[in-house]
Amino acid sequence: MEAKDCKKKIILTGDRPTGKLHLGHYVGSLQRRVALQNSGKYDEIYILIADDQALTDNWDNPQKIRDNMIEVALDYLSVGIDPKKCHICVQSNIPALHALTFYYMNLVTTQRLSRNPTVKSEMVMRGFSNSDTNDNQAGLPAGFFTYPVSQAADITAFKATTVPAGEDQEPMIEQTREIARKFNNTYNQDILVEPEILLPENETQRRLPGTDGKAKMSKSLGNCIYLSDDAKTVKQKVMSMYTDPTHVNIADPGHVEGNMVFTYLDAFSSTEQFEKYLPEYKNLDEMKEHYRKGGLGDVKCKKFLIKVLEEMLEPIRQERAKWEANIPAVYDILKQGTQAAVDTTNKTLAEVTAAMKVNYFADDSIIQEWENWIHK
Ligand code: TRP
Repeated sequence: MEAKDCKKKIILTGDRPTGKLHLGHYVGSLQRRVALQNSGKYDEIYILIADDQALTDNWDNPQKIRDNMIEVALDYLSVGIDPKKCHICVQSNIPALHALTFYYMNLVTTQRLSRNPTVKSEMVMRGFSNSDTNDNQAGLPAGFFTYPVSQAADITAFKATTVPAGEDQEPMIEQTREIARKFNNTYNQDILVEPEILLPENETQRRLPGTDGKAKMSKSLGNCIYLSDDAKTVKQKVMSMYTDPTHVNIADPGHVEGNMVFTYLDAFSSTEQFEKYLPEYKNLDEMKEHYRKGGLGDVKCKKFLIKVLEEMLEPIRQERAKWEANIPAVYDILKQGTQAAVDTTNKTLAEVTAAMKVNYFADDSIIQEWENWIHK
């Protein structure tokens, strides 16, 4: 069984349900997941809605997580994640993950955790520290501090070989590999799998800037276009998008670098769309050339971008509407996906507890062992 299992290609990836998913998630991960799902190259795919992890910095607001659970599930389904091919599962309801987290805590030092760059930067981001000096580490919730251990539990519980994720998750994967290695060495078993990260393929996928051009698209910065935004909202957001402040009059020469309209056209437009909506240019290069020279106005560019985005977003919206009209079906998908995850992770937990010799009640062979020990 082991030899065959080792060869299985298993994907685990996930999101914290702290908000609706946006275009940054779409280019950064959702599109990729759909492609991986349809590639047929993976034996199993699990997509984890990491609500426990979201609670590590939202413990006082569980309703927020509860509401965003359905938003994220609807976002997944509407972009084409197919519940027949992927298990969409809910972290809090997979008990093996909690048990594994607890055991893995023994395999990690607090020193190692405080050196985890993701924890360090998120401490600042989530308001637990206003510098990256670790000064406020004493005031960190232990759950937040140890969430890399819980993430290692997520990944190893499914024996994931592949974790598609952004660069920001690299330290998490490294920590997972260390824990898996240490477990296997300590208990002299080859149970846990060291996963590989599957990074985004290009710059746009790595980091889609927000509509304000300032930084990564992110809910806290209010610079997002959500997959669930209606056409009117998308139009408004594009119309107020950051372009080139030196491009005052249409005749002025303009810059395309750092100009969000062109950044988004780079990410989303295709040559066919020029023929369809803006035939005066053959392709994006020609359009950029004109903008640079002067004589091409922002409004015209924005109107084209709206058409490009709508071509992508409208089918997503329609798919979402179907699922929104059938919430009980979404509930069933989550319930079944979670059940599949419970079954898979319980198997790993059984192997782990056996290796750690805490599986007292798996069978009663220990009665004999205890008798021999006591009556020796
Ligand atoms: N930490 C990830 C994020 O914030 C979410 C996550 C939790 C995850 N568990 C995971 C991602 C396991 C990949 C694998 O995006």
